[in-house]
Amino acid sequence: MSSTRDDLQKKVEAAKLGGGQKRIDKQHEKKKLTARERVNYFLDEGSFEEIGMLVTHRTTDFNMQDQVFYGDGVITGYGTVNGRLVYIYAQDFTVFGGALSETHAEKICKVMDHAMKVGAPIIGLNDSGGARIQEGVRSLGGYADIFYRNVQASGVIPQISAIMGPCAGGAVYSPAMTDFTIMVENTSYMFVTGPNVVKTVTNEEVTSEELGGASSHSTKSGVTHLTAVNDIECLENIKTLLSYIPQNNKQKPELTPVKLQDEVREQLEGLVPENANKPYDMHEVISGIVDEDSFYEIHKNYADNIIVGFSRIGGRSIGVVANQPMSLAGVLDVDASKKAARFVRFCDAFNIPLLVLVDVPGFLPGTDQEWNGIILHGAKLLYALSEATVPRISVITRKAYGGAYDVMNSKHIGADFNFAWPTAEIAVMGAKGASEIIFRKEIQSADDPQLKLSEKEKEYAGAFANPFKAAQRGFIDEVIEPKNTRRKLIKAFTMLADKQVNRPERKHGNIPL
Ligand code: COA
Repeated sequence: MSSTRDDLQKKVEAAKLGGGQKRIDKQHEKKKLTARERVNYFLDEGSFEEIGMLVTHRTTDFNMQDQVFYGDGVITGYGTVNGRLVYIYAQDFTVFGGALSETHAEKICKVMDHAMKVGAPIIGLNDSGGARIQEGVRSLGGYADIFYRNVQASGVIPQISAIMGPCAGGAVYSPAMTDFTIMVENTSYMFVTGPNVVKTVTNEEVTSEELGGASSHSTKSGVTHLTAVNDIECLENIKTLLSYIPQNNKQKPELTPVKLQDEVREQLEGLVPENANKPYDMHEVISGIVDEDSFYEIHKNYADNIIVGFSRIGGRSIGVVANQPMSLAGVLDVDASKKAARFVRFCDAFNIPLLVLVDVPGFLPGTDQEWNGIILHGAKLLYALSEATVPRISVITRKAYGGAYDVMNSKHIGADFNFAWPTAEIAVMGAKGASEIIFRKEIQSADDPQLKLSEKEKEYAGAFANPFKAAQRGFIDEVIEPKNTRRKLIKAFTMLADKQVNRPERKHGNIPL
């Protein structure tokens, strides 16, 4: 009996050493924590329960029976984060470079299945050389088993992927199907094919970092939602993210207790410049409305003409979608539409109410946009908002022009409350463009066409560059003073907390992809 106990002790100690001290040192030299250090840092102290610590691979090809490590390159289990249950897997680069074998995949699938059964988030810490080359198709099958589960879990439990080392080839498709991806700067990369293959096929010379590092994916491709300077910041970011979202699609996010007093916010007055073509920072509007320091931006450096992120208002978790006049005048383009649509769908899937702040001059014109499918991508955002059943409130701060007015959570597509500031201009287009079209003949035949145009511009602006026509029709529920926005929103979101919407039964909709 005692020899079995000794045996257990030895195995546990061996498992805890992963691929051995030398490889652990190498991991540290790269400024990376080991998989076990990451799990221990991330979870509440002492809460980690490991599952499958003594699993080993079953391969005998290439004498693999002589290279066996307990755990087989991935640490799996469950624990708590700020008292909330989460499931976790962390690939261990010290064991076969974290490469995914059949058994390694089975361990990941096991925790994914558990997470689905009990309805808790699953967190994947990726750090892997990809498919375990010695296992061939069995390892590819393992990936597909994970992908299949990612899809089954989508919209049921939150899935978060951290990329904390290599993530290449097929391995990229699991993070891509999860809700959020966060990459560590300079120590992680993601690509379908690496620089060598790129050079062979396209003759392009590119480094791993340029091709698929955190900075490329957070600015150019939008593959990653967040970046972090190191492993610790990455893990802290995941904890913050979790604080806004519920355990599963049947629950609502937790309310954070806040003491509400006078919720009038004078700083919101005068934020919108008199000149309609002058930009202002929509971040200031957001921070003037939400609970102090509660805004957590997602996709910060990608398509910054639209802002998305989580926040709290009166202690209630909300998703914020806001045009940003500081970038491209807040226009909707391909990337902004995709970014916002995906965020809206996440919030809707997990019962997070939506606040949409509108200052949009329309869709970005041009061949680049048309040929890249702005029609389809713009439709994504329209579709995502139209299908969302969570409480939805809009505030139009300035421009709401053309089709973009409809798209940005208008009353017509199911928004619950539509507020407008007195500075709002709700029209088919700006006064100048509109006058040039509808008064063209009059302007051309005038003695002074320029003077005529400015007269007509004023005439059109007088009629439409305000929120009152829309308010008369009930398309705007209330025109509010900016300083009262927070008060109004706290009341409205509280009132809408138990909103119920029944949709017709169907297999699934067909969002324009
Ligand atoms: N299968 C099996 N073992 C792998 C592996 C894989 N896919 N990727 C890495 N390893 C092993 C290495 O053999 C090495 O083993 P060792 O510690 O016994 O020497 C260990 O993992 C670390 O790899 P190493 O190459 O020394 O690390 P690195 O930091 O210099 O490079 C990679 C990391 C990921 C760039 C490199 O290992 C690599 O290119 N791996 C193959 C990637 C690939 O093509 N995967 C298959 C397609 S998805």
